[in-house]
Amino acid sequence: MASSYSLVLLPGDGIGPEVVATATDLLDALSQASGVTFRTVTERAGGDAIDHDGTPLSDRALAACKDADAVLLGAVGGAAWDHHTGPMRPESGLLQLRKELGVFANLRPVAVPDALAAASPLREEAVRGTDLLVVRELTGGIYFGEPRGREGVGDAEVAWNTMRYSRAEVARLARVAFTRARRRRGKVTSVDKANVLVVSQLWRDVVREVHEAEFSDIALEHMYVDNAAMQLVLNPRQFDVIVTGNLFGDILSDAAATLGGSLGLLPSASVGGPVGLFEPVHGSAPDLAGKDAANPIAALLSAGMMLDELGEPRLGEAVRHGVEAALQAGLRTGDLWREGLTRVGTQALATRIRGEAVAWLSR
Ligand code: IPM
Ligand code: MN
Repeated sequence: MASSYSLVLLPGDGIGPEVVATATDLLDALSQASGVTFRTVTERAGGDAIDHDGTPLSDRALAACKDADAVLLGAVGGAAWDHHTGPMRPESGLLQLRKELGVFANLRPVAVPDALAAASPLREEAVRGTDLLVVRELTGGIYFGEPRGREGVGDAEVAWNTMRYSRAEVARLARVAFTRARRRRGKVTSVDKANVLVVSQLWRDVVREVHEAEFSDIALEHMYVDNAAMQLVLNPRQFDVIVTGNLFGDILSDAAATLGGSLGLLPSASVGGPVGLFEPVHGSAPDLAGKDAANPIAALLSAGMMLDELGEPRLGEAVRHGVEAALQAGLRTGDLWREGLTRVGTQALATRIRGEAVAWLSR
């Protein structure tokens, strides 16, 4: 008996709905080819939810997510809601969702396929063969730390956030990173700012202890975040798994996205709770919305990661083959197009990827 999974789709804002639609088309096609079925419900999130429900994540949407086997999200945010503050920001809904689902580990793989190495803004010989995984802490750190606040007026006005980690939060994330490294090339780089921040000193101690006690077969190195940003650009091939806190991971994963030439390529999986959350790393890109111009690859690969985590790795593999084949064939959306390649829209690229994925599955 083929399996069946219940999914919540949160298309969100900007290009979110378009790229999520390409992912559901892909899931439909994989379903027909494999017999695995997906039951989907769509809920509002982000600015769209603010406009309709008066909150970026309604109780109903949250309950549906908690009830599902997985959640696939597009993107949230946009200029229309930029003047909102606090819990009425679209981003607050996403942060609340991550927290409520308990998905403390955000996995962001960055691989540069050969077909894209030449198009990288960095030197081809530096990026070719890059294959790394950022494991970003997602439900703690300065994003959530208390106290936080803003008060006073004039020159005396002040605002503050707190970067705070417990031993338990660091240890459970380190275990995810080491475990992933075991399935990869066996190396973990822990990124912190231990030369300045006391929170990073605890981070480093705990990573070291978990390594010694449980993962001494893995190679571990520590790197300051400023150096890591430079090393990512200079010599990305040195990295296998990068494990780091919420804020550093946010910044470093965008930097890593430049290696393949576009943020539109990067998928993510947020795991650690009973329900996984899968979302492209890119934002809502309002300037591209509704123009059939967005790159669907990040969303499609996010669906692929979802299939892996659901326990359907062959379907996940089919998605990655589909992407690879479409890139090999020279199809590119505007973000990656250059002379000699075929410029296509969101739909055309997604359709080709879908066809290639199904062909691989049925070969
Ligand atoms: C990301 C995004 C989010 C983050 C925003 C939209 C809250 O930049 O997923 O990287 O900072 O985590
Ligand atoms: Mn980000």
